[in-house]
Amino acid sequence: MTTNKWTFHPVPLIKERNLDYRIREVKANIINGIGEDHIKSFPVHTIRKDFPILSEKIKGKQLIWLDNAATTQKPTYVIERLKYYYLHENSNVHRGAHTLAARATDAYESAREKVSNFLHASSSREIIFVRGATEGINLIAQTYGKQNIRKGEEIIISQLEHHANIVPWQMLCEETGAILRVIPVDSSGQIILDEYNKLLNEKTKLVSITHVSNAIGTITPVRDIIRLAHCYGAKVLVDGAQAVSHLVVDVKELDCDFYVFSGHKVYGPTGIGAVYVKSEIMQQMPPYQGGGNMIKDVTFEKTIYKEPPERFEAGTGNIGDAIGLGAALDYVMSIGQEKIFLYEHNLLEYAQERMLSIPGLKLVGTALEKTSILSFTLKGYEDEEIGSALNEEGIAVRTGHHCAQPILRRFGLESTIRPSIAFYNTREEIDEMVRVLTQLQKGNSKIYLHI
Ligand code: ALA
Repeated sequence: MTTNKWTFHPVPLIKERNLDYRIREVKANIINGIGEDHIKSFPVHTIRKDFPILSEKIKGKQLIWLDNAATTQKPTYVIERLKYYYLHENSNVHRGAHTLAARATDAYESAREKVSNFLHASSSREIIFVRGATEGINLIAQTYGKQNIRKGEEIIISQLEHHANIVPWQMLCEETGAILRVIPVDSSGQIILDEYNKLLNEKTKLVSITHVSNAIGTITPVRDIIRLAHCYGAKVLVDGAQAVSHLVVDVKELDCDFYVFSGHKVYGPTGIGAVYVKSEIMQQMPPYQGGGNMIKDVTFEKTIYKEPPERFEAGTGNIGDAIGLGAALDYVMSIGQEKIFLYEHNLLEYAQERMLSIPGLKLVGTALEKTSILSFTLKGYEDEEIGSALNEEGIAVRTGHHCAQPILRRFGLESTIRPSIAFYNTREEIDEMVRVLTQLQKGNSKIYLHI
């Protein structure tokens, strides 16, 4: 459908559908040595050349970017795609008006198509562009939620949630008189499915659950959660902000009703994200914001809205960054999501093992099903002290509550140090972080405190 002239592809596109990663099997493979082959054959050093910022020097040291859960770095492919858009295609999206408008519209709609393929949705008409996962959750709360959830009815979330998947539901409960229920997690940081089962009942209208915890990395059993919710007629929203860069997401196979994610967590630009809504649900949803682009006809007496997804995209959208997101998804799929998952999982296991050898280091979040996140505390130090000391060596990690205070409090903590890995990280980088932490623990390193 697209006629845009953008043809630069770094590697041929590999289409992967219906991949179901059973972490236990992957772990068994790793134990049997298959993982070693994956880590050796994964072209990490070639991939690193695609990310110019990884050559950056920080305080005279080579940058080691381990803050991928906060945001991922962008490949040249995405940067060039944005540049091409502003050099050759920039226009508002109103196809018929002139040539640039047609180019911009085609590129924007082609990006919607790419998001749809990436999530394995049935159609690009099931994809709404938003600023990010936070806006996506708010959109569902304010449209589907307001329309369908009444006083005394129940919304279920989990203890693992990011504030973005707590606060919009609290606001909706305040407005409607609905009740928020919370699934507890076990000491490893995994959802307790039996407890979830006990919370479900005929009053449950919506379950909103993270796919991967941003604070501790747990991959939640979303398939079971969705299946059980549907037994009670409840709808399910999955917050995929931390999942999309690590796992294959197939919304049809999951059978979720809503799926949200942010582009910047998956090597795309900031300020753009997407919401998947099952077509039959989206058709019934009232608009979120009013304005241009979402209407068919306006008089002072009455407005007729456009069909979805435009009905939910009032005003001029973030056209350039949507196109950049499409390029990021092409890039990820060209590497192969299965390969990425195996490589990252090996690296995570390697890092956890190495970190556990550091005296006084405690990993927070040890679920068997886990990805990317290496939250920890180090005895004798404030988390900010460790963050600053690592930064002195060029190593970027996040410290703090990670916008997920309830799950940290479940473990008796107000904050952690949170390295988070991506497919461009290497064992050497993990070794360097472990070296700095070990030195700190031996008291051989200066502590830098800039707070
Ligand atoms: N949600 C982002 C994080 O986990 C900002 O760091």
